[in-house]
Amino acid sequence: MTPEPTRPRPRVRRPAPPAGAEPVLRVRTVRASDMAAVVALDATVTGLHKAAYWQRVFKRYGHHGVGMRQFLVATLDEQVCGFVIGEVRDWEFGAPPCGWVFGIDVMPSARQLGVGARLLSELIARFRREGVDTLRTMISSRNSLLQSFFRSQGMRAGHLLPLEMDLGAFAPAAADADGEDAA
Ligand SMILES: CC(C)(COP(=O)(O)OP(=O)(O)OC[C@H]1O[C@@H](n2cnc3c(N)ncnc32)[C@H](O)[C@@H]1OP(=O)(O)O)[C@@H](O)C(=O)NCCC(=O)NCCS
Repeated sequence: MTPEPTRPRPRVRRPAPPAGAEPVLRVRTVRASDMAAVVALDATVTGLHKAAYWQRVFKRYGHHGVGMRQFLVATLDEQVCGFVIGEVRDWEFGAPPCGWVFGIDVMPSARQLGVGARLLSELIARFRREGVDTLRTMISSRNSLLQSFFRSQGMRAGHLLPLEMDLGAFAPAAADADGEDAA
């Protein structure tokens, strides 16, 4: 019996997006499946691929999505293109509970599209639901891009002053021969 000739199956084509359609920007709580993209995104900024570090950050900030700790990602057409991490901290530095933003990154190819502003705005909305009314951050004085960004979002110099010291050059208090602190 001669086999039926197999016909090539018609190729299913996805409908092309309408010309000029805007990519869809969303902000949501991070998921475990986002972490490879987060590690890659961080590496574009820092030049370091810190997978173990990011797993620790995910464990600490990633599982809640509500409450004091927040780790949010922005997606453009379902692809992770940015993230922000923050936490409400109680009574640190003698201050009433306030929201801290620890890290924010947007993929270089997705910058200046409003992604960073959306991430920060969602973080602020979640902090306000926690009842705090102040947002704080700490940035490098050499990072003028972050300074411009935070200023544009309404952040101004606060009253806390960062202090630091080189521990290698630290001279310990005098100790006696047994290593006990001198009285
Ligand atoms: C800072 C950063 C988060 C901004 O993200 P973004 O998505 O490009 O920001 P937005 O598009 O929402 O811009 C918001 C505002 O920020 C300011 N801004 C953004 N990019 C800027 C730039 N290149 N130069 C000057 N101002 C800029 C503008 O005022 C802008 O408002 P406008 O568009 O009305 O002018 C992004 O550039 C980034 O990830 N940079 C690296 C961050 C970093 O160093 N992280 C490591 C330490 S946490």
